[in-house]
This record gives sequence, C-alpha cells and structure tokens, in this order.
Amino acid sequence: MGEEEKMVTITVVHNGPYLVDGKFKMVNKDGTETILSGKNALCRCGHSSNKPFCDGTHVKINFDDTAK
Ligand code: FES
Repeated sequence: MGEEEKMVTITVVHNGPYLVDGKFKMVNKDGTETILSGKNALCRCGHSSNKPFCDGTHVKINFDDTAK
C-alpha cells in the first residue's frame, strides 16, 4: 500500500460537516479511544445531537460557514 493510499482525507463540506475518509483513531474527552474507518462525518456547526458526528442538523439551522 502506497503512502497516498494510507492517508486519511478530510473534506470540508460547504455549510456542512468534515467528511473523514479512511482509518483513524478518535480520542474522546474521557480518554477512551475508538478506531473508525470508512467515511465519517464530523460536526462542524456545533449543533449535532450526536457529537462529534454530524446528524444533519446543520441543514435545519442553515449553517453558514462564511458567517463571521
Ligand atoms: S455539521 Fe452537521 S450537524 Fe453539525
């Protein structure tokens, strides 16, 4: 497997979440670790009921990532 194939890709979705594609370790605030793979959407708007994952709430609240 080449270096590029091992790389995790994080895509910033306009007015939406971070899409993380690949295997990574998430360390929670209590120190527990979870290994995730495939495609995971992480909340960027701060309003998900399932943080740190996106639950689609950004659409309901009209999250605008250009707002200052
Ligand atoms: S980015 Fe989707 S709920 Fe926050």
